[in-house]
Amino acid sequence: MTHDPHALPTSVDWSHWLLENRVRAGDWVVDATAGNGHDTLFLARLAGAQGRVFAFDVQEAALASTRARLLEAGVLDACTLIHAGHQHLAEHLPAEARGRLAAVMFNLGWLPGADKQCITHTASTMQAVALALEWLRPGGLLTIVVYPGHAGGEEESQAVGAWAGALPSHSHEVRHMRSANRKGRSPECWAIRQRPNKAEISGW
Ligand SMILES: C[S@@+](CC[C@H](N)C(=O)[O-])C[C@H]1O[C@@H](n2cnc3c(N)ncnc32)[C@H](O)[C@@H]1O
Repeated sequence: MTHDPHALPTSVDWSHWLLENRVRAGDWVVDATAGNGHDTLFLARLAGAQGRVFAFDVQEAALASTRARLLEAGVLDACTLIHAGHQHLAEHLPAEARGRLAAVMFNLGWLPGADKQCITHTASTMQAVALALEWLRPGGLLTIVVYPGHAGGEEESQAVGAWAGALPSHSHEVRHMRSANRKGRSPECWAIRQRPNKAEISGW
């Protein structure tokens, strides 16, 4: 397919666009699904040398690919790669990261180019997104890219949607972006922002 430079943003593009405007140098952030490291590198560039990116994946091959990408870009020192499921976030992050994370990013599904059997699963995904919300700072952003088109993805999409849609609007802003006219279920981007308190807004 010819690349159209004016095409509307994909779900991953949406997540990057939202984070780009909100993650600042020095921030602590989490890439909950490192995969081939594209999102980890994106976050590392935003957080800078004074910031920190904690990146999780259950596959050693994914972490090796991420490590190589970060090394080549010269940002590996600002990243902590964690070989564990994101549902175990609380066991792997330093205690002082709780309530301090500027962003947590999920890009669900399988590792492109690898075994399609190794996918994210609804139960662990839901445990992890709930935890991520607890660890965000006020004003922090959680993004979740979901692929309902593959086996298991539809269930994951329904669960994320039900959970996000039930978050109280006085404490969280919730947005849902996806194609409205593609045949089949298209990828989705969920964005959930923890509302800051008034004192924090005026300080910005
Ligand atoms: C779509 S890929 C991520 C793409 C990646 N963000 C990138 O920029 O290349 C999804 C990844 O989630 C990983 N994964 C599956 N279950 C996981 C879990 N419980 N915790 C962390 N990662 C998981 C897979 O191994 C796979 O690498």
